[in-house]
Amino acid sequence: MSGQAERVMELRKLAGDRRQNPLSKIFALTSGKGGTGKTFLSLNLAYSLAAAGSRVLVIDLDSNLSNSNIMLNVIAAKTIYGFYTEQKLLSDLITEYEPNIHFIFGDSGRLNYPSPKSGLISKMFSQLRNLEDSYDFIFLDTGAGAGEDILSILLKADGNIIVTLPEPTAVMDSYVMLKLLSGNRYCGKKYIVVNKCFEVEDGKATFDNLTMAADHFLKDKPAYLGEVSFDKSVIKSIVSQELFLKGYSGTPVAAQIERIAGRLYEFNHVANILQPQASSAL
Ligand SMILES: Nc1ncnc2c1ncn2[C@@H]1O[C@H](COP(=O)(O)OP(=O)(O)O)[C@@H](O)[C@H]1O
Ligand SMILES: [Mg+2]
Repeated sequence: MSGQAERVMELRKLAGDRRQNPLSKIFALTSGKGGTGKTFLSLNLAYSLAAAGSRVLVIDLDSNLSNSNIMLNVIAAKTIYGFYTEQKLLSDLITEYEPNIHFIFGDSGRLNYPSPKSGLISKMFSQLRNLEDSYDFIFLDTGAGAGEDILSILLKADGNIIVTLPEPTAVMDSYVMLKLLSGNRYCGKKYIVVNKCFEVEDGKATFDNLTMAADHFLKDKPAYLGEVSFDKSVIKSIVSQELFLKGYSGTPVAAQIERIAGRLYEFNHVANILQPQASSAL
């Protein structure tokens, strides 16, 4: 059998196993430090996964500082604010961006913006669990920081994608996020992406530094999804409000994002298969 045919059979088997064990769909993007590229990556990872056939929902949970609709040049007619204040269902707040990419946009600059307490976040997750059959990935693009509301979201997600930078301050903040997750006995997957690397090697070196500390002090081993280079074209794409993978497809940075999306997809399937069936009851 050719290598290609074996690969197709393997993926079919993975898809079959996944249906029996529908875990790990809800991923929070977090960082501790602001401006690491969570929103940029959530949009572009969603686009890359959708281009490969996955159905993706992205929810902008950066409280009152929403950016995703601006980055996409979309006017958000309905937002998560309706869920927070008017008891609207999340399913009624979805905007279809493309057939395979849906959004629940956030809000910006409201004077009376609520700070979602844990009861509301539990309600959000029970509605998200009802949406799981409609999506392969649900990305929760969170704001910076480690406040009570953000932590409560991270602890309920199936996986956390920590977006860090080669700068020691960002690495320290990522370590703090890992410590908070471990300290709260978080059992979901933990992934690391290193963004804005000046040299490609900075990514793995940053990951190694972070995981050496995490392994030693927290007995924790997050998995490496990959690195994204610092590139002016990312800033240009944001200034022109054009999704990076649409405007800059075929570039080295686009290839890095696609590789990260591919690894997330594969890790996710492997994680699902290795999860005991009993733990799928959420
Ligand atoms: N790989 C990159 N290269 C250059 N600039 C980047 C890169 N990733 C993100 N940026 C810049 O960083 C800014 C913050 O990104 P954003 O996704 O809004 O961060 P966060 O959501 O973590 O606050 C963006 O406006 C963009 O200008
Ligand atoms: Mg953001």
